[in-house]
Amino acid sequence: MAFKYLFAFVSLISVVVAAPPRLVNCPDGNKASNAACCSLFALRDDLQANLFDNECGEDTHEVVRLTFHDAIAFSPALKRQGKPAGGGADGSMLVFPTVEPNFGANNGIIDSVDALTPFLASHKISPGDLIQFAGAVGISNCPGAPRLEFLLGRPNATAPAPDGLIPEPSDSITKILARFNDAAGFTPEEVVALLASHTIARADKVDPTINASPFDSTPFTFDTQVFLEVLLKGTGFPGSANNSGEVESPLPLGKGLNVGQMRLQSDFALARDPRTACTWQGFINEQEKMSAAFRAAMAKLAVVGQDSRNFIDCSEVVPIPKPAVKKPATFPATKTRRDIQQACPLPFPNLATDPGAVETIIP
Ligand code: HEM
Repeated sequence: MAFKYLFAFVSLISVVVAAPPRLVNCPDGNKASNAACCSLFALRDDLQANLFDNECGEDTHEVVRLTFHDAIAFSPALKRQGKPAGGGADGSMLVFPTVEPNFGANNGIIDSVDALTPFLASHKISPGDLIQFAGAVGISNCPGAPRLEFLLGRPNATAPAPDGLIPEPSDSITKILARFNDAAGFTPEEVVALLASHTIARADKVDPTINASPFDSTPFTFDTQVFLEVLLKGTGFPGSANNSGEVESPLPLGKGLNVGQMRLQSDFALARDPRTACTWQGFINEQEKMSAAFRAAMAKLAVVGQDSRNFIDCSEVVPIPKPAVKKPATFPATKTRRDIQQACPLPFPNLATDPGAVETIIP
């Protein structure tokens, strides 16, 4: 008899545990986990149709960069000294568009600020939520990207962030890692994971003589190429030389209308620094590992400086991303393993495209 009751109790528990989350019916016919998420469906569709065109193009890239530049501008170290410390992912970039976008490290960010601002007037959402939500929606257009978490609830920014909190490509790795660590305790591994974003990136401002110079050969796909290509030996510049924060890239010559590839000094150094080289190399041809690590680090970035304990999880509104292109990481034409400058002592990933030798720069 006692067994019978025990069995009934255990069954009841498993039903409770396995029960799917209760959904609310939104007025527009969508279903959400919380009524507060309902208004995001219309915003999502508006962003997709009228800003991103459902593509992993320029606007998506710029808004993903904005998620970073808004969020990282927070410094507990400055706060401890009683100085202005920024509010992190608080939307201050949109609230004070004549202040932060003018900082040197934010060069070009005004395009995404101007692109998002009209959505504040037509939808009920705070500036900080809009930036992080738009980033999550935009990146879903990039094949291979993860479906990012989205938590709703950032209050309005009350002050602009001070200058000097956004990492620059000319900064040393020590300075970059310290800045990320100060902002939210990011580890070197998380910093490298966040840099997966540079697989969907093209620079407009680093070299004033050229526009849309990509950081890898597939800037519209969230793949692992950037981790492979940044390890190739540099051979030249896609435009002019002597720009701050730029070093020689392996593919400086563009084809047709495309501009040649650019390389940031910071990416070059992160790929070769003993603190980050193995994480960097470890993402080559590891799509799922890279995507999962990026998702986790982005979840942390999206709430920097915020008390997210009472935020509402509206992740179900974020579109399911376009599936990854089923293609292994590949050496660009003319490049082989001999062009790799390996800095991690672990074996270099075996890429089907080239079995050649690896030049090693391990000290
Ligand atoms: C060490 C840290 C970082 C440095 C020094 C850095 C620097 C840069 C620079 C100089 C550009 C080119 C801007 C231009 O000339 O148009 C750029 C582009 C970009 N960055 Fe970063 N970045 C860093 C980390 C990140 C992170 C953490 C993210 C996102 C999570 C991110 C996302 C992007 C994106 C998407 C672009 C391309 C923008 C476009 O194509 O318009 N970056 N970054």
